[in-house]
Formats: sequence, C-alpha cells, structure tokens
Amino acid sequence: MAEDSDWMATATGAEAAGGGRPPSAELHPEIAHPARIYNALIGGKDNFAADRLVAAQLTAAVPEAAAGALANRAFLGRAVRTAAALGVRQFLDIGTGIPTAGNTHEVAQSVDPSARIAYVDNDPIVLAHARALMSGCGHGATSVTRADLRDTEAVLAAPGVRDLLDFSEPVALMLVAILHFVSDDEDPFGIVKRLLAALPTGSLLVLSHGSGDLVTPEQAELAERSYDPAAAGIHLRTRDDIARFFDGLTLLEPGLVTAPRWRPDTAPGPDADRLGIYTGVARL
Ligand SMILES: C[S@@+](CC[C@H](N)C(=O)[O-])C[C@H]1O[C@@H](n2cnc3c(N)ncnc32)[C@H](O)[C@@H]1O
Repeated sequence: MAEDSDWMATATGAEAAGGGRPPSAELHPEIAHPARIYNALIGGKDNFAADRLVAAQLTAAVPEAAAGALANRAFLGRAVRTAAALGVRQFLDIGTGIPTAGNTHEVAQSVDPSARIAYVDNDPIVLAHARALMSGCGHGATSVTRADLRDTEAVLAAPGVRDLLDFSEPVALMLVAILHFVSDDEDPFGIVKRLLAALPTGSLLVLSHGSGDLVTPEQAELAERSYDPAAAGIHLRTRDDIARFFDGLTLLEPGLVTAPRWRPDTAPGPDADRLGIYTGVARL
C-alpha cells in the first residue's frame, strides 16, 4: 500500500460491519455530522441543511465560532509546516475533515514530496470527498482510512496506517479539533496515551481542542446543546483539562495558546483571546 501514489480507502472492522456497502450508502443528510458542520462553519459547500442548522445555532450562542474554526484550520497548516521544518516526514492525521485548502498532505508534501500522510476519519462523507479530490492526480504517499479514534487498536492496525507509516521513525500525531467529540466516559486521555505509546521519541503531538473558558458558562452550555441533534456531541474542556493531553511531553513555544496565538504568520487580531480553541504542539 505504501507505494501507491493515490489516496486509498482502507476498511477497518467498523466499515466491514456495514455489510460491505460503499461509504456513500451510509450518508445521512438529515443528521448533522461534525465534519459537515465544520465545513459549514468555515464557509465550505459540502454540507446539508441539518449541518447548517447546527452551525447557525452554534454561531448564535458563540458569535466567534466561525472565526475560531478558521483560526483552527490556519493553525493546522502552521503546525504541519513546523513539523516538516523539524524534519518530521510522517503524519497520522486523525479527524481529517472534508478536504479543503491547505490539507495536511499538501502542506507537508510542499516541504518534502516524500512526506507520508495517513488520514483517518470515521465519517463516510470524508472518505468520499477524499477519493474524489485525489482521483487521477499524482500525489505523494497518502492513505485515507475509515476508523474511529476511540478504537485505537483498529486505527493503529489499519493497513492504511500500518503499511504507510514506519513507527520506528518520528510521526506527527495530529488530533486537530477532534478530541472534543470524545466524552469523558470514552476516556479521551487514555486514547491519546495509547496512541502516543506507539510512537518513537522525536515524534510530535499536534492538538487543538474547543474550550468554553473564553465565553460565559451560559454560552458554553448553549454551544454544547447546539450539537444535540448531531451524530456526535461536543464536549468543551477547560484549558487546564486540555493541558493534561500534553502530560509528560515537552510543549514547543509558545505553549498551549488560542489558535491565532500559535506561531502566527501575521499579528493576531483583536479577537485572538476570544476564540475558544486552544492549540499546542509537543515533542515526545
Ligand atoms: C471539526 S473536524 C476537524 C477537521 C480537521 N482536523 C481540521 O481541524 O481542520 C473533526 C473531524 O473529526 C472527525 N471525527 C469526529 N469524531 C471522530 C471519531 N471518533 N473518530 C474518527 N474521526 C472522528 C469528524 O468526522 C471530522 O471530520
């Protein structure tokens, strides 16, 4: 698989459990999904009315939500560039999202065309878009796997991950705007620990996470409730809780900060401290 130059969709047990149906057969436009809600927030066209409704309710609760999503996306690009500049050539990007400008493989392979990127997402629409984006184009080694972050064994054992990435060399584990879709009961801290345990020294953790710290408690509650109709709920965490994901690692400068403040290309705007997305990159 690793030598294949196109995106590949590789099935995990979860997908096989769908009876071998193609992912498109599982799309439910009437149920809002995190990938499409995010796409609506950042001004994309790959979303349905149900997704736009959640995005509108979220924005009504927290007017900075769309700016926060865009700032998060910009952080992703800067973090990948930073990782590549540090010599990391392998990326495990869990929670890929619907492809848009500045995807991880584009940024990493613009630095080094030999960079290898394994994308993982549990949403069939992400796979469908990823395939469409890449079909017939010449790209570096990139795979896309349908798997669930909460099943870390399945993620690490998936052929698109295991065959593409060399786990004896540094890997940038990217968990960008995904962990807030994992509830405390689902053990988000244990999930991150198990994934990090598979990586060698010199690897990086690239992480962003929604927080209610920067809005009123009422706004934070309304923001969480806006996801009630969606396929996955959102669980905003405090900055202190988000910092726990980095326990035992060395945070790169400037530490755990709101998205616009992480190594900005341009001076952060006046709303930089109101955007409720904390971001950080740490070294193992
Ligand atoms: C808000 S988007 C973030 C996309 C991209 N990482 C970014 O920051 O621009 C979250 C993505 O995580 C995916 N996702 C949510 N929960 C997941 C889970 N348990 N396992 C795998 N993917 C998940 C969603 O399908 C969606 O594509």
